[in-house]
Amino acid sequence: MKVGILLSRVRVEEKWLLEALEKNDIEYKRIDDRDITFDLDHPAAWQDLDVVLERSISYARGLYATQILNGWGIPTVNMAYVAAACGDKVVTSSILGRAGVPQPRTRVAFTPESALQAIEELGYPVVLKPVVGSWGRLLSKINDRDAAEAVLEHKEVLGSYQHSIYYIQEYIQKPGRDIRAFVVGDQTVCAIYRSSTHWITNTARDGQGSNCPVTPELHQVCVRAARAVGGGVLAVDVLEDPDRGFLVNEVNHTMEFHTLAPTTGIDIAAVIVDYTTRVARGEVKLQPPNLMAAQPAPTRLSVFTFDKNKAAAGVSA
Ligand SMILES: Nc1ncnc2c1ncn2[C@@H]1O[C@H](COP(=O)(O)OP(=O)(O)O)[C@@H](O)[C@H]1O
Ligand SMILES: [Mg+2]
Repeated sequence: MKVGILLSRVRVEEKWLLEALEKNDIEYKRIDDRDITFDLDHPAAWQDLDVVLERSISYARGLYATQILNGWGIPTVNMAYVAAACGDKVVTSSILGRAGVPQPRTRVAFTPESALQAIEELGYPVVLKPVVGSWGRLLSKINDRDAAEAVLEHKEVLGSYQHSIYYIQEYIQKPGRDIRAFVVGDQTVCAIYRSSTHWITNTARDGQGSNCPVTPELHQVCVRAARAVGGGVLAVDVLEDPDRGFLVNEVNHTMEFHTLAPTTGIDIAAVIVDYTTRVARGEVKLQPPNLMAAQPAPTRLSVFTFDKNKAAAGVSA
């Protein structure tokens, strides 16, 4: 068996993964996403790989690389459809909503005016997030209308095109922390609290990790979220709402675990490598998210017939 590991920079997580591959005597090929090109007509160059573990720092590189590889029949951890489901917060929230997974109330709008209306309907405070992003960057907690107008104007005038998609969430009065759970297949392996005096609790923003017990209730909500996005190796971020309990905030498909591993004492890299080899051996049943689940059936089928004479005369049928 040969495992490809696609990476950008070797962070501590990739170092641990490479060590786990070595330790288990698994043949592997290290692939730097800055060096590769894919010749789309010649998949043969990649066919020596039984699976690719995707660890790109760039969402776009990881997404396109896995799309190409999956198209050639090479499975990836995670699969491209999982990256597509997790990498964009609008897609994630839609999928979680359809699957009935509890999550914060969320609105999507396309103009500052409709966004402001959605904000006022949800009620302050709200949180505005870029649809693609991580490490808690460019998140805004908006406490009143003045702030809402300012942030919306800044996003419209200064933001890239993605910032004109307004992703708006109710603010959850969480207890100074959130939960990051590590889910592999159908198992919630471990979880940590990330505590901070700041409302953004990412460890990249100085959130402090401590062990969080995986109760049956937490396990259930995490595994439902993981299944909904297509499953694999995932970090499920959970907010604790004082009334509603666990709400899934997001699902990360190329997770960092430099805090999770030392805090829980679990060898996360070993678990990921083990899962990856099981995917390579075809032992894992992979199930894409059901994107069409709630689509109503078309009520009327229209049949289009092409009339050559009318088309030639420039008359529409
Ligand atoms: N709706 C919310 N209510 C309260 N806190 C939130 C909310 N959304 C995000 N946060 C806080 O901000 C952090 C980062 O948000 P998240 O949506 O995970 O963005 P990122 O993808 O950048 O990590 C969360 O871990 C949580 O602490
Ligand atoms: Mg997050």
